[in-house]
Amino acid sequence: MSNQQWQLSGSMPERYEEFLVPVIFTPWAQELLSRAALSEGAELLDLACGTGIVARMAATRGVRVCGADHNPGMLAQAETQSAGQNITYRQADAAGLPFDAGRFDAVICQQGLQFFPDKPGAVAECFRVLRPGGKAVFCMARGLEENPLMRAQVKAFAVHLDADEANAIRAVCGFADPEETGALFTDAGFDPVSVQAVTLELNARDAGAFVNGLMAATPASERIAALSPEARAALHSDILAGFGSCHHGKALRFPHVPNVVVAAKPA
Ligand SMILES: C[S@@+](CC[C@H](N)C(=O)[O-])C[C@H]1O[C@@H](n2cnc3c(N)ncnc32)[C@H](O)[C@@H]1O
Repeated sequence: MSNQQWQLSGSMPERYEEFLVPVIFTPWAQELLSRAALSEGAELLDLACGTGIVARMAATRGVRVCGADHNPGMLAQAETQSAGQNITYRQADAAGLPFDAGRFDAVICQQGLQFFPDKPGAVAECFRVLRPGGKAVFCMARGLEENPLMRAQVKAFAVHLDADEANAIRAVCGFADPEETGALFTDAGFDPVSVQAVTLELNARDAGAFVNGLMAATPASERIAALSPEARAALHSDILAGFGSCHHGKALRFPHVPNVVVAAKPA
C-alpha cells in the first residue's frame, strides 16, 4: 500500500497482529520461550498475551498454555489466531489473576509490565501462580535512545500530532531501569533474579510498508487517518527518516532492546 492509498481497515487488534506481530513480537516470543526452556507438557501462563503470539508458539511445542489479558478485543483476536490449538484464554487484570496458587511452571510476559498500573501487585500474582522452582520470564523495552522503533515515532508524532500522542509511544519505554526492575522481582520473593539488556536485530523487508503498518497499529491511528494525504505523507517520511542508519536499500534492520528478566520462585 502506498502512503497515498493508506486507509484503516479492520480492528486495532487485527492491525496489531498483521503489522506488528510478524516483525517485532514473533522473534521476541522465540527468544523468551528459549529462555523459559519448557518441556513438553509443562504449564505456561502467557501474561498480557495480546493476540497470543507467545501462547501459540509455545502450544506448537507441546506446552499447555493459558493466556491472560485485560483487553477483550486482543483476546478475541488471540482466539481467532489460535483456532485449532488447545489454548485457554482468560480476561484478567495482571494484579488479580484467576488461577490457583502454584499452577504454572512458567509465566512469560512480553512487553506488558510497563503498562500495568499496579506493578508490585502483578509481580506478586505472578509469584503466587508459579509452582516452587517455577520461572518468570519478562521483557520490557529499554530507553528511547536504544530503540529507534519507538524513538522515530515519538519524534515524528511530537511534530505532526501532539505531545499526548508522542507520550503514548514514549510509555512503551516507560519502565526501563534495570535496578528498579530487579528490585520489583526480588521484593516479591523471587531468587535468583537476573535482569539483562538483550538486543535483537529486527527486520522489515519493505521499510515504507512497515511504517504504514506502524501508523495503522498505533493508538493514534484514527487521528492519522483523519490527516490530509499530504500531512500523512510528511508524518510517514519523518518516521522513516527517524530510523537513521537502519535503512538497507528498501529494507530496515534495526536493534530492539528490552530488559529481559529471568526470575525463579525458590523451590
Ligand atoms: C504491547 S502488548 C503485548 C502483547 C503480547 N504480550 C505480545 O507479545 O504481542 C501489551 C498488552 O498488555 C495488555 N495489558 C496492559 N495492561 C494490562 C493489565 N493491567 N492486565 C492485563 N493485561 C494488560 C494489553 O491489553 C496488551 O495486550
